[in-house]
Amino acid sequence: MDKETIYNDISSQAEGLLQDELPPHTHVCNLLALLKDKLGLFWAGIYMRDGNELILGPYQGMLPCTKIEIGKGVCGTAAATKEIQQVDDVRVIENYIACHEEARSELVIPGIGKDGEVVFVLDLDHTEVGWFNEVDAEYLNRYAQLLLPFIEMMKA
Ligand code: SME
Repeated sequence: MDKETIYNDISSQAEGLLQDELPPHTHVCNLLALLKDKLGLFWAGIYMRDGNELILGPYQGMLPCTKIEIGKGVCGTAAATKEIQQVDDVRVIENYIACHEEARSELVIPGIGKDGEVVFVLDLDHTEVGWFNEVDAEYLNRYAQLLLPFIEMMKA
């Protein structure tokens, strides 16, 4: 199956799931589970910004680090620059926080509120080098936008 087909499948399932009357954290967990499962990711999760730090939010996968300083690691860089970080091989970048031995490629998408401030980052890890490409960045950025109101509700 090509990636577009997988993402179309994820999008239609997500649309159905998100219509259910459920608390925001349930929607966030469901979407993360869908992403991890359908894309075969190693890890998929949210870090929520709290001042100068990112604090672990809902996730699917192994136990990760719980706090990341803004500017540190791939997640902290995404939060500091407000730009998507696509890393083909985490072993060759210096500013990397290794939570898991198995992770090879990583995509981190900042979720930005109406005031222009970072609300959260969506962090996705895969065990294959260079797994993420522009198609992933585009679709996963859309899902990050979908998650934004739910995460804002969780923080309220
Ligand atoms: N590798 C990330 C830390 C989070 S874990 O991958 C879940 C980073 O460098 O920011």
